Amino acid sequence: MALDVATVRAAFPYLERPEGIVYLDSGASAQKPRAVLDAMHDFGGSHYANIHRGVHRLAREADAAFDAARARVAAFVGSTPQETIFTGSVTQSINLVAHAWGDANVGEGDDVVITHMEHHANLVPWQQLCRRRGATLRYLGLDDEGRISLDELDAVLADGRTKLVAIAHVSNVLGTRNPVGEVVRRAHAAGARVLVDGAQAVPQQPVDVSAIGADFYGWTGHKLYGPTGIGVLHVRRELLADMPPFLTGGDMIRIVDFQETSWADGIHRFEAGTPPIIEAVGLAAACDWVDAIGGIAAVHAHEEAVTAYALERIGAVDGVRIVGPRAASERGALVSFAIDGVHPHDVAEIIARDEVCVRAGQHCAEPLHRALGVPATTRASFAAHTVPDEIDALVTSIGRVLDIFG
Ligand SMILES: Cc1ncc(COP(=O)(O)O)c(C=O)c1O
Repeated sequence: MALDVATVRAAFPYLERPEGIVYLDSGASAQKPRAVLDAMHDFGGSHYANIHRGVHRLAREADAAFDAARARVAAFVGSTPQETIFTGSVTQSINLVAHAWGDANVGEGDDVVITHMEHHANLVPWQQLCRRRGATLRYLGLDDEGRISLDELDAVLADGRTKLVAIAHVSNVLGTRNPVGEVVRRAHAAGARVLVDGAQAVPQQPVDVSAIGADFYGWTGHKLYGPTGIGVLHVRRELLADMPPFLTGGDMIRIVDFQETSWADGIHRFEAGTPPIIEAVGLAAACDWVDAIGGIAAVHAHEEAVTAYALERIGAVDGVRIVGPRAASERGALVSFAIDGVHPHDVAEIIARDEVCVRAGQHCAEPLHRALGVPATTRASFAAHTVPDEIDALVTSIGRVLDIFG
């Protein structure tokens, strides 16, 4: 089913503002459709209580809604509720793995392998883990279109020292879509575990976590039209039993005595304290909303067409250099670019005068920009509600930047 973009656009309150805002910053955080806001309002107002601790009517309703939300979110990406942990963000999901699994499994003489395209969220926790444990952090390089080489991965894995490969499913700067299923296959054959950062992938394309087979797959709710304050971590069932907890406290325990504590089983061991309850309901509503507009495959097809148009239009402007794969079919729904001789903050500032919202800077990927040899880039990122007219507006604004800077 193709996306009915007029219906999609009617779902977003921000599009009713009089300024005619062109929001091309969904890669940073997605706007929220009314269905998500309503679901959170209704649950928070009429069915809310803390979970897993009460027997009254509201507590039972909240328990049921939270459990249903976990099942809904897991199903959206082909996982199971038993392998789906709610965190606060994908940053927290990755930190959880780095501490709980990493501290117990990575040591001196071991390697952790990441790539030059990683967001800081999938880089700094590994740097810190390697420091704590005396391990080595190694990087896979990129070709001139921002792609990794599977031959280089094989070469790195060959010495048997790799304990973990951590890789973005889709890059938040280059848009590169990594062959994560193949990375998992090769890493597993070499005895390594794999974490996939799916922050940019889940909102843009069908993702089947079990088919990919990664040991850990993390993503974040606010980029999938859901609320802030909720992240997701899928962990393969076999690993859960042996992972010690990361945060400790209420709700994650079995028995607490004066000097000793035993841990709850499975995912519950990793959800200390009151979880993001209203946010879970909101994220489940976001999954429902995506399905109601035609499903994530339809969103993907729409965004790929918008991305192809953006690559063509922005790429045709003299003095603009686009980074990442040239084909829309090889990338996610974003285009990052540099304009010769103009700082991206000036670019974004001038573009913002036309009410076009883009993001400028290093997009939490400073080593990547160093590897690309550019100080920063300007990024336009797309969503289900993006239309070609908005790309035209951006190109007009880029023209204004070039006029000002001669
Ligand atoms: C690829 C990637 N990983 C991780 C993150 C961090 O997401 P959060 O801030 O929700 O933890 C982002 C956010 O921009 C991202 O694009």
